[in-house]
Amino acid sequence: MLPLTDEERHFLIDLANEARRRAYAPYSNYPVGAALRTKSGKVFTGVNVENAAYPTGMCAERTAVFKAVSEGERAFEVIAVVTDNGGSPCGACRQVLAEFGQDTLVLIANGEGKLLQETTVKDLLPGAFTPEHLVKK
Ligand code: THU
Repeated sequence: MLPLTDEERHFLIDLANEARRRAYAPYSNYPVGAALRTKSGKVFTGVNVENAAYPTGMCAERTAVFKAVSEGERAFEVIAVVTDNGGSPCGACRQVLAEFGQDTLVLIANGEGKLLQETTVKDLLPGAFTPEHLVKK
């Protein structure tokens, strides 16, 4: 596991928590913020963006991943996810994170900035379907 310092952890958690203020979550009233650090040291934040047509909304984690990928970054080290009550990334976000690496660290924190769980994509989604499964033998 990556040796993250407490300062690095809290830097990302605070960024995700600040981003949460920009969440667009008028239907659930459950704002989520994410902060994704790439191996090149860049940080991309994300928030959930809901929609009146409910299923078309997007989660904070995937917003952050898609922002990073669309800016040319695909190698991730760690993502911090902040919700009011320390909720865990949904299955779809776990799958999208798994696409880009099983070893990405996941920090789960609450709205007070308290780190509740430090885990990895691999532990959150064991046996993930990954790009390797599509390689023809
Ligand atoms: N949400 C996220 O942004 N990330 C997750 O991993 C779980 C759920 C959002 C989706 C929706 O806008 C709200 O939280 C309630 O489900």
